[in-house]
Amino acid sequence: MAISMPPSVMILSKIKVAPSILSADFSNLCQAIRDCERGNADYIHLDVMDGHFVPNITFGPVVIESIRKCTKLPFDAHLMIERPDKFIKSFMKAGVDIITVHREVDIDLNTLLKKIRNYGAEVGLAINPDTPFEKAKEYMEKIDYLLVMSVYPGFAGQGFIDSVIPKIKEAKEYVEHEQLDVKIAVDGGIKHTNYKRVVNAGADIIVAASAIFKGDIAKNISDFKK
Ligand code: DX5
Ligand code: ZN
Repeated sequence: MAISMPPSVMILSKIKVAPSILSADFSNLCQAIRDCERGNADYIHLDVMDGHFVPNITFGPVVIESIRKCTKLPFDAHLMIERPDKFIKSFMKAGVDIITVHREVDIDLNTLLKKIRNYGAEVGLAINPDTPFEKAKEYMEKIDYLLVMSVYPGFAGQGFIDSVIPKIKEAKEYVEHEQLDVKIAVDGGIKHTNYKRVVNAGADIIVAASAIFKGDIAKNISDFKK
């Protein structure tokens, strides 16, 4: 006999969580990643910043290659860099599984998305809070993930921008209407106090840094999945 669950429980139990190590203890990244595994994280989100596309610098393929041996969880490299096209090969060699690039980069996106696919990675496209979903539409058949930014990229610990909620809904409706195999991920300012609204708007994956790496990492992740 089928067990009936209230709809909200069914929706939330399917949510996938991608901890962004940006707020982790960089002196002990392997431990932080193992804590993510204990909490049943689904991905490890890697925020790569170059100081040009965003006003901050983080890490690149060298660090990713060294933490690759800590886990088998899929690595999603969120590239906030001006010239992602120059580094796809390096990130692939470092062991990433998903490469997410920004709609806002000033290079030919069709060529870039094809290049990522040809290297064998899954393809993600990120849109900033002020980029309308309309601008991502023409690429939706070429990607596996749409990363809707709910903060302006650059830093962990910023406040969630509420006005992206209708955009998450719009993207989800489009994916369902067109029957596309594209997951909607939402990144920035997601806390235990607001994630239900994000999930109810249509997010399949939530990305979070500060809400996960402050306190009990495994519990923070499993609390998102309850
Ligand atoms: C922002 C990054 C986010 C960030 C999220 O540029 O892309 O992934 O680390 O951090 P929180 O969850 O603290 O907003
Ligand atoms: Zn990110």
